Amino acid sequence: MTLRLAHLSDLHFGEAGAEAIASLGAALRDAAPDAVLVSGDLTRRARSAEFAAAAGFLGGFDVPVLAVPGNHDIPRTDLWTRFLRPLAPWQKFHGLDREPELECGDVVVLGLDTVQRAHWHMDWSAGGLSQRRLDRLAARLATYRGRRIIVLCHHPLRHPAWAIGREPAFGAGAAVALLRDAGALAILCGHLHRADAPDEGAGAPLQFIAPSALSPRTKGSPNGWNLVTIDAAGLRVETQWLHPPVTASAPPASA
Ligand SMILES: [Fe+2]
Ligand SMILES: [Fe+2]
Repeated sequence: MTLRLAHLSDLHFGEAGAEAIASLGAALRDAAPDAVLVSGDLTRRARSAEFAAAAGFLGGFDVPVLAVPGNHDIPRTDLWTRFLRPLAPWQKFHGLDREPELECGDVVVLGLDTVQRAHWHMDWSAGGLSQRRLDRLAARLATYRGRRIIVLCHHPLRHPAWAIGREPAFGAGAAVALLRDAGALAILCGHLHRADAPDEGAGAPLQFIAPSALSPRTKGSPNGWNLVTIDAAGLRVETQWLHPPVTASAPPASA
């Protein structure tokens, strides 16, 4: 059985242009994946209209859609909501489950929430995994032991060397160790708006960062998304650019 998953990240409805939205929709309809995975930042400012637009777009596909929140999906300036009910706007449109799961044959995709309300440093966009989150992840991994596990989260769990000036997610090393021990296949994430695939010889689980699918803040990289193919041979990831690539920042990689 071959499973084809479309991994999108950083849609940023609220700043995404209509042309880019139409282009992404057409590309996904052409690709006809078995499921769509979205690794956060569905919106620009966690506003209701932005969530409604994202939900309208994602609801247009006739396949399962799994989404986890990103740092842009909690209020930025409404500190009352940010600290007391940070995911209230998200849950209004995406239901109560912020760590959803998807089972496709022997493959299980686990959504992992890495969004943080605040940090001791200035980069409040950075992610983190508290001990409570790590314990919950360990329990879920135990539940699915023996299955082929893919983790979907917003923040990279391995911080790329080129991500200078960005704070890595705290607790990420412990999460990677849990995933390695559980034999997880891959980590799918975003946040950095630039694609990244693991170097040859990178340890398991391999991490694939998708480019921003729709944000105009592409940091030198074109918009795009990752097509993840899983079959008996393993897992392959190929970046699908929505415009000709400016730089070859993410060569196809396999695991
Ligand atoms: Fe983003
Ligand atoms: Fe982000």
